[in-house]
Amino acid sequence: MNEAQIERWNGSESDHWFENADRYDAQLAPFLAAVLETARIDGDAVLDVGCGCGALSLAVAPAAALVTGLDISAPLLSVARDRLASSGLGNVEFVQGDAQVWPTEADSDAARGQFNIMVSRFGLMFFDDPVRAFTNLRSNLRSGGRTVFACWQDLGQQQWLLEPMVAAAPFLPPAPPAPPAGPGMFALADPATVESVLTRCGFGSVELADCSTSLSPGGPGTVDDAVEFFASTGIARSLLDPAPPDARAAAIDAVTTLFTERHDGTGVNMGSAAWIVSATAA
Ligand SMILES: C[S@@+](CC[C@H](N)C(=O)[O-])C[C@H]1O[C@@H](n2cnc3c(N)ncnc32)[C@H](O)[C@@H]1O
Repeated sequence: MNEAQIERWNGSESDHWFENADRYDAQLAPFLAAVLETARIDGDAVLDVGCGCGALSLAVAPAAALVTGLDISAPLLSVARDRLASSGLGNVEFVQGDAQVWPTEADSDAARGQFNIMVSRFGLMFFDDPVRAFTNLRSNLRSGGRTVFACWQDLGQQQWLLEPMVAAAPFLPPAPPAPPAGPGMFALADPATVESVLTRCGFGSVELADCSTSLSPGGPGTVDDAVEFFASTGIARSLLDPAPPDARAAAIDAVTTLFTERHDGTGVNMGSAAWIVSATAA
């Protein structure tokens, strides 16, 4: 089981997503559009894995027969259910479960092999055993079913993360060493890893399309909005929180200067890159 991720997504990390659900959706809107364009949902039974606050589930629903949004995070599912209640949609359900093992015997309503497409926006990188997880997810698809999902390319392609960290670094204690490979934001960044995992788990015709696009931290807004959002993310807090107050203030000033340079009148625009992965259940 993904104990560490279950704790993370029901605690520290989910707090920020819970409080900023609309801002995350604004920031990640280009990737939702890219998944929709590639998935071409048309009367499908859709499984949205790691659905979080439900933006992708609700976006695919009008063209789908039914949608199940699956996530381990109780707080984020509560946002998704609130959004569903005010959406008027009648073909969506949100369920709590670990995608690596769901459905378990306790999930008596959920039948295996009932979906013909699995989608995700950045919800498939957090498994402690990716081969077990994708094998399980494959078993939830009908034969010939498809998957279309977004995952991040490597950190070197993410100017929206790298540039503020580089601007702030001279004022902060040395960053902790990069974590060893494992569950996390960049777990599926390497195309060879994606292809190998999917192929081992019963998928074929694996394709990765580059989705390089401008990203606004926290979505369009003022420079101060973007700085406040960036500084409150888990990744920024891990760098800022150990610093004394004056160093922290200097680091935030440096990020403000950078974001001011990158503001185009509607938002701070910086480079980002994801893979839009598609594959077929063999
Ligand atoms: C980066 S967030 C993306 C959320 C959402 N897809 C979006 O784009 O707004 C990752 C999501 O994956 C979920 N998640 C992580 N590990 C999971 C697992 N083993 N099973 C189901 N969901 C998981 C987290 O709770 C979180 O909601």
